[in-house]
Amino acid sequence: MSFSQTRWVWRNGEIIRWEDANTHVSVHALHYGSGVFEGIRCYETVNGPAVFRLDAHLDRLYQSADVYGIEIPYSQSTLTEAVCEIIQVNEFKSCYVRPLCYYGSSSLGLNPALCPVEVVILTWPWAAYLGAEGLEKGVRVTVSPWLKFHSKMIPTTAKACGQYLNSVLAVRDAVRRGFDEALLLDAEGNIAEGSGENLFLVRDNKLLTNDEQHSILLGVTRDAVLRIADDLGYETKVRALTLDDLLGAEEAFFTGTAAEVTPVREVDNQVIGVGRRGPVTARIQEAFFAATAGRDERYRDWLHVVEHPVVVV
Ligand SMILES: Cc1ncc(COP(=O)(O)O)c(C=O)c1O
Repeated sequence: MSFSQTRWVWRNGEIIRWEDANTHVSVHALHYGSGVFEGIRCYETVNGPAVFRLDAHLDRLYQSADVYGIEIPYSQSTLTEAVCEIIQVNEFKSCYVRPLCYYGSSSLGLNPALCPVEVVILTWPWAAYLGAEGLEKGVRVTVSPWLKFHSKMIPTTAKACGQYLNSVLAVRDAVRRGFDEALLLDAEGNIAEGSGENLFLVRDNKLLTNDEQHSILLGVTRDAVLRIADDLGYETKVRALTLDDLLGAEEAFFTGTAAEVTPVREVDNQVIGVGRRGPVTARIQEAFFAATAGRDERYRDWLHVVEHPVVVV
């Protein structure tokens, strides 16, 4: 991953140069993680660059902001246009999009009421998050010694900056021990999710996944996969997932904007199913990438086409 191709950043209604997109060390969010954000992908499609499920991501951004009392000083339609504009000016055909709304500089008391709300949108090219090989062959995960925080501590359905320290601890531990990704359990010992992904299992040609009762972020990709699975004729059961369910599954895969649909081939060195991408995962992955590329009419309304290049001088 590299920021070297990004020339422009959207900040508080203006397009500014990457090198000017700095912030002061006194901003509230830097000290306390008091911001909310989204992770979105723009894909190259038959109709040019298009943002996948932009409405759903921005809906979640405003919901996350509501949880923390962050009043985003722009309408959703303004941010929709801003996302398209910043992709255009950077001349990306495909990229990752990161809107971030955070409390700025005024006071460092914990109550951020006096702090202004700053809004930025970053874009950069980001290849497969868990690697191209991971997408094809599957990834090796470990059960994290860190539990996913309970939604009564911090609402897990909001995507807020500070809560990602839990994921940072988990993923650092996993990588240090030689795994690709961490899987976090919830406070009851059921599976919650990956450090940045939701989990699906496949058993008897049916899908299993959990929901917000197990302290997960309700992923936009999870939602897309639920619909795709239904369209492919797979039944999905939404319920608690145990480690036994995972170890006994025929297939398992992660879903997420960054990770897309990534097979899980091992958990703590125990092979899942046949130890590589299974047939159901492959069909779902294929249908997912057909949707993101605009090759399937049924999912065209998931794509927000980025139109007309804009030139900034
Ligand atoms: C903790 C966590 N769970 C799940 C997901 C998947 O969500 P989405 O599919 O909306 O990207 C993400 C990614 O944003 C995440 O950070």
